[in-house]
Amino acid sequence: MLVTGKQILDHAHENGYAVGAFNVNNMEIVQAIIEAAEETKSPVILQASQGGLKYAGVEYIAEMAKVAARNASVPVAVHLDHGTDFTQIMQCIRNGFTSVMIDASKKPLEENIATTKKIVDIAHAVGVSVEAELGKIGGTEDDITVDEKDATFTDPDEAEKFVKETGVDYLAIAVGTAHGPYKGEPKLDFDRIKTIKERLNMPSVLHGSSGVPEESIKKAVSQGINKINIDTDIRMAFNKAVREFVAENPDVYDPRKILGPAREEMKKVIAEKMKMFGAAGKAWK
Ligand code: G3H
Ligand code: 13P
Ligand code: ZN
Repeated sequence: MLVTGKQILDHAHENGYAVGAFNVNNMEIVQAIIEAAEETKSPVILQASQGGLKYAGVEYIAEMAKVAARNASVPVAVHLDHGTDFTQIMQCIRNGFTSVMIDASKKPLEENIATTKKIVDIAHAVGVSVEAELGKIGGTEDDITVDEKDATFTDPDEAEKFVKETGVDYLAIAVGTAHGPYKGEPKLDFDRIKTIKERLNMPSVLHGSSGVPEESIKKAVSQGINKINIDTDIRMAFNKAVREFVAENPDVYDPRKILGPAREEMKKVIAEKMKMFGAAGKAWK
């Protein structure tokens, strides 16, 4: 069942759980996510990153994700992750994405607001939901120290102004996570998540969620996170399964035999996340 991002995330916000938003790059990943969602009866978001669109092309990603969504027994949204380019965002909308992210978080506040509002006005006119980002979520190369922390984390006052002026549907907040594998253990600012939730009363999004310990994820959800982005942990599962299979079966050359076990391993990791996020059993008809 193909639905909008807003339908999925408003339900999560109203019922106090989080939906997994998993990055898709090929058919096996799409199938692993959908099978995990159906088995655990979880609503789910399939999202395409910049790298994913470059690798597979917007049409392939869109059609694969839409076929999966339409045939699924659970609610599925198709989302653009970290959109920065106006033309690309329009192409995603035209190809049937039901949600887009405009990430202008590197720009100054007023410019981020203006850029986001322009996308919101267009997307909403055609029934597509919008995610934006406020604050700076680190990359693996970004070593966020405690001193720098407050300068880059999302400010609740700014968040209130941002949402009021843009009309965005859900907001990605910087609260201590970073994209890619962690060197140490990430320390999340749970009070900030709670404050932002109280001030905005709308769905909040956590990026860079791979490798965040289960306890921290559960606490983040209890304080107000409703969309949890996972990419790296899927890549890790894929990589491990393919390497193991090839090492144990050096003579096998059939791609289906190599990728099949990887699809199974990704599915297990994804199903665990769905349970951890509180999404299992939350799918509606
Ligand atoms: O934005 C987060 C993604 O994990 C980055 O993915 O390397 O496919 O663009 P990418
Ligand atoms: P990870 O790769 O750290 O899971 O981050 C995913 C993400 O935030 C995609 O937007
Ligand atoms: Zn991200």
